Amino acid sequence: MSVKSFLVVASLALSVLIGLVLGRGGESQTQTAVAGPHTIKIGLSMDTLKEARWAKDRDAFVNRAKELGAEVTVLSANGDDTRQVADVESLITAKVDVIVIVPHDGKAMAKGVEVAHKAGIPVIAYDRLIVDSDLDVYVTFDNEHVGELQAQFILNALKDGPKPIKMLRIYGSKTDNNAFLFKAGQDKALKDAIANGTVEVVHEDWADDWKPENAKRIANAALTKFPKGIQAVLASNDGTAGGAIQALREEGGASGIIVTGQDAELVAVQRIVGGEQSMTIYKPVQELAKQAADTAVALAKGKTLIATQTTDNGKIKVPTILHDVVTVTKDNIDSTLIKDGFLTHDEVYGAGAAPAASK
Ligand code: BGC
Repeated sequence: MSVKSFLVVASLALSVLIGLVLGRGGESQTQTAVAGPHTIKIGLSMDTLKEARWAKDRDAFVNRAKELGAEVTVLSANGDDTRQVADVESLITAKVDVIVIVPHDGKAMAKGVEVAHKAGIPVIAYDRLIVDSDLDVYVTFDNEHVGELQAQFILNALKDGPKPIKMLRIYGSKTDNNAFLFKAGQDKALKDAIANGTVEVVHEDWADDWKPENAKRIANAALTKFPKGIQAVLASNDGTAGGAIQALREEGGASGIIVTGQDAELVAVQRIVGGEQSMTIYKPVQELAKQAADTAVALAKGKTLIATQTTDNGKIKVPTILHDVVTVTKDNIDSTLIKDGFLTHDEVYGAGAAPAASK
């Protein structure tokens, strides 16, 4: 997977970190970068571990940090902002060298950055931006592109069908900056189609806290307004797709309706195989986590990072690293998710199913 942009390190370790960031170089360089008497301590403050994707992020992050000789303390706030700020405070008390945050609320966690900085600890925002803060680095996927791919998928899938395409749009949590980026990408892809009447958005709403049950409620409301009238559900992630599909099942089934998603969660990929969900977006979190761990160690060692790409977070231009994403349908599950070891063949198709090559 390519990295769209990278950080340049203005220090003696220039070649070392570029090697790390681009995934080139090698283990020996990596190990050289962390050699020294002090064991680096990293705090990882997560919004939640209740969704499948975040456990993968955590595991990949911790494994990479361990490879680099660093120790990680992981705390999860269960979607509670007060608790997440308290988590950051306890990481500061534990004297970590650097804090990596997956914010539940990108605005509320500006406080976390502030208290960490007061203690002289740099902060990396992981996957989700922390706005209005002096954030040190932001490591994420190309989130607008995620939204574009989701919307474009529906336009392509239904290009030859009746018009207008009656679409239900389900956005994510309003506390998550990514939800707005996904929507912005979707808006971009749909702009002309909505303007010229190819697409009619029959219902749209935000799923609080990204919860499937909230997405289900939104889909229920849409189906009450338009029984049998919806051809596509532009769901912003797999969790919300799952909620919408549950609502569709109760009304006679999701087959024949295009439903998008994101994250390549196992249950969603199984729904794709079963024909209830049409696509998902594969975000190789193992690469994101690796890069975040590499960057955390570099920051802990006091390296100066200069970004070739930045994100305006309302206060500063935050040095940013963007990773690419891939559309997954039932046709490329094997050559993407399974090939990368993100999911196994048995998990997706069931133990004993025919190997990929014979399908
Ligand atoms: C992430 C998605 C995830 C969603 C809900 C977003 O910030 O980018 O991958 O599905 O949060 O956890």
